[in-house]
Amino acid sequence: MNHKPQKLYIATFGCQMNDRDSEIMAQLLADDYQPTSDLDQADMVIVNTCSIRAKAEQKAFSLLGALRKYKKTRPKMIIAATGCVAQQDGNKIFSRMNHVDLVIGPQSIYRLPELTGKLKEKRKKIDCTKFSKSFVIPPFLPDINSGLPHKRFVTIMQGCNNYCTYCIVPYVRGREISRLAADIIAEVKHLVAHGIREVTLLGQNVNSYGNDQKGEFPGFPQLLRQVAAIKGVERLRFTTSNPKDLSDELIACFADLDNLCSHFHLPVQSGSNLILKRMNRKYTIEKYLEQVEKLRRARADIVLTTDIIVGFPGENEDDFAATMKLLETLRYHSSFSFIYSSRPPARSCEFTDTIAEEIKKERLARYQARQKEITLERHHEYVGRIMEIMVEGESRNRTGQWCGRTTGNQIVNFDSQENLAPGLIFEVKITEACFNSLRAVRVAD
Ligand code: SAH
Ligand code: SF4
Ligand code: F3S
Repeated sequence: MNHKPQKLYIATFGCQMNDRDSEIMAQLLADDYQPTSDLDQADMVIVNTCSIRAKAEQKAFSLLGALRKYKKTRPKMIIAATGCVAQQDGNKIFSRMNHVDLVIGPQSIYRLPELTGKLKEKRKKIDCTKFSKSFVIPPFLPDINSGLPHKRFVTIMQGCNNYCTYCIVPYVRGREISRLAADIIAEVKHLVAHGIREVTLLGQNVNSYGNDQKGEFPGFPQLLRQVAAIKGVERLRFTTSNPKDLSDELIACFADLDNLCSHFHLPVQSGSNLILKRMNRKYTIEKYLEQVEKLRRARADIVLTTDIIVGFPGENEDDFAATMKLLETLRYHSSFSFIYSSRPPARSCEFTDTIAEEIKKERLARYQARQKEITLERHHEYVGRIMEIMVEGESRNRTGQWCGRTTGNQIVNFDSQENLAPGLIFEVKITEACFNSLRAVRVAD
């Protein structure tokens, strides 16, 4: 018997759903493997991949490729590819990277210990990437001893049914599957019982939570109310929300629930109705503006952020001008903006009116430059105000410099000689606006 503890290295790419899946995988393997951040120490490496844009996929393959030399010197090392690229390429990964041992799709991560055991026993590569129609997200209580002590993600659904024409997600994450409300509630209760004060509910389109299930299933607004009512949930967030399914009931939650944070990430993708139609987003800009107005009526101080794609096939200067106009109208607090990337088998790959790379880059730069100015202007509006923050932790680079987050999720830096526990909530006065953060001083209690 080998009693030396084995070491597990996990590299995570992509979205928060992948972050959560990586936590789950680490926990599932915890009996046999302890985490390490040093590849040279690793007995097992999991590359949890993302395939949303070509660049994300390249990053995953370049790490997988770099592992070849580790495997040469340490042939017993187990290398697993998981996540969306794994799902997409399945056993093709073995022919391209013959040093990879396991390819596991997002639905199968719960089988990781069993598959690792099988691999060790039979020394034969395993591809486990089939979607199952009867898949149910297992009830699973998170490990409190690893991970952040004050905030966690809770997955409420997997997959996506929307087929936006640019998007690979429905192909690599499968059909929408909502998790049982009772399991979600049990997970949140477990978290708060162990000191967690903030939870973020996760799904590709949380607005359609429950729609895939028959019978007694709450809708997303009802679920949100149930979670908000759990004693100990100081801050509640969710992501992501497709505007096509944003209901008045969800907007009403912002008026009613004090612990629901003042942040709404509402990806718009484009300001042009023509492009939205070709993206199969199923809403118009007029409808979107109406929703934002309602949201701002429900919660005047709500921080609005978005995702933008520039250079979608057929996007002409007028379409792009409409996106810039939308930015001026709504003055997003910040946005994630991306150059369109063609992702077979997503349908837009077949659109032939593609945009030249230089034009895409120029548009992205224009959008980002203006957003940066608006973010700073927005930040200036906070100077002098009293805001509530939750402590994140002390700066790694400077003792006495601390960081917290507002309910709008903005980063606030402040000085403190006291040792502050992550998750502590108190008021600060904003003194300075920077591009990516605010500066503040603590207000005496
Ligand atoms: N489910 C979320 C989006 C998840 S993907 C929603 O519907 O809003 C995160 C973001 O990646 C998207 O909002 C989009 O802006 C971007 N994205 C997705 N596919 C892309 C592609 N092919 N090229 C560029 N950006 C893309
Ligand atoms: Fe992709 Fe659209 Fe689903 Fe979001 S809603 S994950 S953009 S297909
Ligand atoms: Fe990427 Fe898959 Fe998330 S493609 S964004 S890791 S769902």
